[in-house]
Amino acid sequence: MPLVNGKLLVNFIQEQQVMGGAFNTTNLETTVGILDAIEETKIPSFIQIAPSNIELAGYEGIVEMVERKAKQMDTPVALHLDHGKKMEDFKAAVRAGFTSVMIDGAEFDFEENIRYTKEAVDFAKAYGVPVEAELGAIKGKEDDHVNEADCKTDPKQVKEFVERTGCDLLAVSVGNVHGMDEEPCIDFDLLAEIEKESPVPLVIHGGSGIASEQLQKMKDYNVVKINVASELRQSYIQSIGHAYDENHQEANLIAVLTSAKNSVQKKTIEKIKELND
Ligand code: 13P
Repeated sequence: MPLVNGKLLVNFIQEQQVMGGAFNTTNLETTVGILDAIEETKIPSFIQIAPSNIELAGYEGIVEMVERKAKQMDTPVALHLDHGKKMEDFKAAVRAGFTSVMIDGAEFDFEENIRYTKEAVDFAKAYGVPVEAELGAIKGKEDDHVNEADCKTDPKQVKEFVERTGCDLLAVSVGNVHGMDEEPCIDFDLLAEIEKESPVPLVIHGGSGIASEQLQKMKDYNVVKINVASELRQSYIQSIGHAYDENHQEANLIAVLTSAKNSVQKKTIEKIKELND
């Protein structure tokens, strides 16, 4: 089927009472691995890419790649922009045909985050593309970007933020961390307070390294999207490293990259099951 609009995907996720994963891609092999896993498990899911990873494929390239593969699938998939910090990246993704986008104004103060997010929402609205925004800052490491600030989401700001920006999904900071260097410590009481205040469904970043019981519990707090990147990236890199360790003269590139794609697929299936068992 064609790529599904992110809002419709969230409807499918809620109707089927499943947890939607959002899996970060970088290149052809990670894209095919993730999409094959989604098709195998039949759970509606997001595939996403951040501007920090767009260099190899480009916005149009990734849309073509994901769209072509999605057309051969029966499981609904949305292509999402992860962490659109710069407006030019956000607009490039919308123009290229992403069906869901994130504007990340978390580095700004409350008022500036609202202004920046609203500008993005107004732009995306004309294209019919839903917007995820972030309130509070998520600690940790994403590629070479390190965020030291651990600024948990303030429940008192949630309703006003969502109403004034018009965002469709809200990414929150409740002890979740990006990357694998730090232990996440999810504050479910805080998540419950945020859920009570939020007019829109919630998103949890930093899905790698969170215990499966905690991932599964999040459905009870109106979380509809959990982002997973590091564990998939590690599986890809480890597969290639293993091939090199086995044979320093290895030149069968297709065999090495097919194994790497299969590792990403296996890990994605594992995570989808963890989110939904
Ligand atoms: P992890 O790398 O911790 O899985 O986080 C991914 C993420 O939140 C992408 O936005």
